[in-house]
Amino acid sequence: MIPREIIDEIVFRNDVETVIGSYVTLKRAGSNYQAPCPFHSERTPSFTVFPATKSFYCFGCGAGGDVITFVMRAENVDYVDALKILADRAGISIPEDDSGKDVGGVSRKRLYELNLAAAKYFRECLYDAELGREAMAYLRDSRQLDMSTIKHFGLGYSPNNFWALTNKMTSLGFSEEELIAGFLCKRSQKSGKLFDLYRNRVIFPIIDTSGNIVAFGGRVMDGSEPKYLNSSDTPAFKKSRHLFALNYAKKHCAERMILCEGYMDVIALHAAGFENAVATLGTAITPDQARIFAKYTKKVVICYDSDKAGQNAANKAMRLLGEVGIDVRVIKLSGAKDPDEYIKKFGADSFKKCLDDSKTGFEFKMDKILGEHDISMSDERIKASVEICSMIADVSNNVERDIYIQRAATVLGVPVESVRSDVERIRRKKLNEYRSKQSKDALLSIKNIGDRVNADAAKYVAANDSEENILAMMIIFDEYRHDVAEGKIDLKADDFVTSFGRKVFEILCELERSPEGYSRAVLGQYFNIDEISRLEKIEVNRRQLTRNDREVFDACIKNLKAEKQNGADLGGQELLRMLRQKRAEKQEG
Ligand code: UTP
Ligand code: MN
Repeated sequence: MIPREIIDEIVFRNDVETVIGSYVTLKRAGSNYQAPCPFHSERTPSFTVFPATKSFYCFGCGAGGDVITFVMRAENVDYVDALKILADRAGISIPEDDSGKDVGGVSRKRLYELNLAAAKYFRECLYDAELGREAMAYLRDSRQLDMSTIKHFGLGYSPNNFWALTNKMTSLGFSEEELIAGFLCKRSQKSGKLFDLYRNRVIFPIIDTSGNIVAFGGRVMDGSEPKYLNSSDTPAFKKSRHLFALNYAKKHCAERMILCEGYMDVIALHAAGFENAVATLGTAITPDQARIFAKYTKKVVICYDSDKAGQNAANKAMRLLGEVGIDVRVIKLSGAKDPDEYIKKFGADSFKKCLDDSKTGFEFKMDKILGEHDISMSDERIKASVEICSMIADVSNNVERDIYIQRAATVLGVPVESVRSDVERIRRKKLNEYRSKQSKDALLSIKNIGDRVNADAAKYVAANDSEENILAMMIIFDEYRHDVAEGKIDLKADDFVTSFGRKVFEILCELERSPEGYSRAVLGQYFNIDEISRLEKIEVNRRQLTRNDREVFDACIKNLKAEKQNGADLGGQELLRMLRQKRAEKQEG
């Protein structure tokens, strides 16, 4: 772990307003700053930066915390990586340690070494005239890859043997724990011995943008199942945050990138000169991956399989990429099931034409709707029109909406004005629905229903109120935290009703009593960003109140204890009360 004095130094040297100001344009508002929230879309700014408390809070979406939390959210990194980014920024060096210690104490760095050694071994096997004969024939003949492509992607072959890799890696000094943590081997339930996970497969190494081999995919060479075997997440690899071939594509992505479904699609595209192609690894695109695209490029062309599953996945990808501000296009290939097959059949030039003819998300969706209705029949045309108008109504940009209205009118063969009035009607309806949903959401959140951070809050509203007041005051005022932690004020973890409240209380006290003392900068070690946002919210709420004296603090404690008493004994007391009442009724009767 990074030493405490370095953490404090990092926070001290990174003003919250300067760091956040490099992401969004801040406007001064009294002693604070405001901006449109970078974490949700909004028109009027409710995102506020408080230089005095070195924190931020969005009154719209509830995201909040300190400068570290901000970087965690904005860069989508964990606590330690956020500290590293901020340290770099301020020119502070963090002392080396075995960073990335994780599963079974195996470090990320060690897994990179292991994967590199394994990739070398798989390659040797592929290039071996005997051992790799079938695999090489598969890649060169069936898949039509040339040697330079096979080398470029570091492809390999895992022999048809349960212990080939295990033995090789063990002889190179890698431990059993390391082989298991790297998802290369498993321990047999029966014999207790390790065995290879990748057997008789062609191997695709997965390489990160720094050039580390982080994982592998392996494909069978016949029709057996599963077709591909992929590494699970390991300390060196998080599937949802990787894009296959991004290590190459990042140098060719200035204009646009191509997103496809599979390893072989990417390889075929690169070989044909489209080195801006990447793929997700056997899963639908995640928000994390969408943000990675946004970091590298402005425009993404989705080129998924032409079957129904591929087209539905394209819809989802379009939404996620659109949400991070990317100009999304879609290709629907005809005459081939995927880009790999398409290029083999029709060649690179033909694919280039498809790329240049790629459709905007709107056109793609409109085509899909038109494909589902026969618009020569009037009732089907009406259905299609309703769907298209509803889609256009969702477009917020006026100019864009107007272009689509004209396109739709042409395609449907109806007057522009009638499409326009339909769209406007649907827009008004949606706007009203949105408004009423917003006020409903606001009500729900007031009552804490559906609370992910503190699930108990809805059940114990009054107790939770007291807890939040107590915790806020302990966070804001050192003396309350100190007196509670030292036992000068009678308040214990057991007095808390919600488990989130109890956890916060325990950690505040623990930090207060630690030799280094409390610091908000270390909260990221104990809480996730949503929990930290909640703490910020509790604190902001409390700061808006003027009375924070000991009398108020004591009153909150008293309330909490009373609530706890009520809540804890409710079952028993209620039963007794009912029994007594029954008896009284009997005696009266
Ligand atoms: P496809 O079945 O479309 O494979 O799956 P592909 O890339 O076209 O492969 P070839 O051409 O048959 O060799 C798309 C992607 O989904 C993942 C892989 O990442 C694959 O590239 N996948 C597929 C798996 O992870 N496991 C499977 O069993 C199948
Ligand atoms: Mn394929």
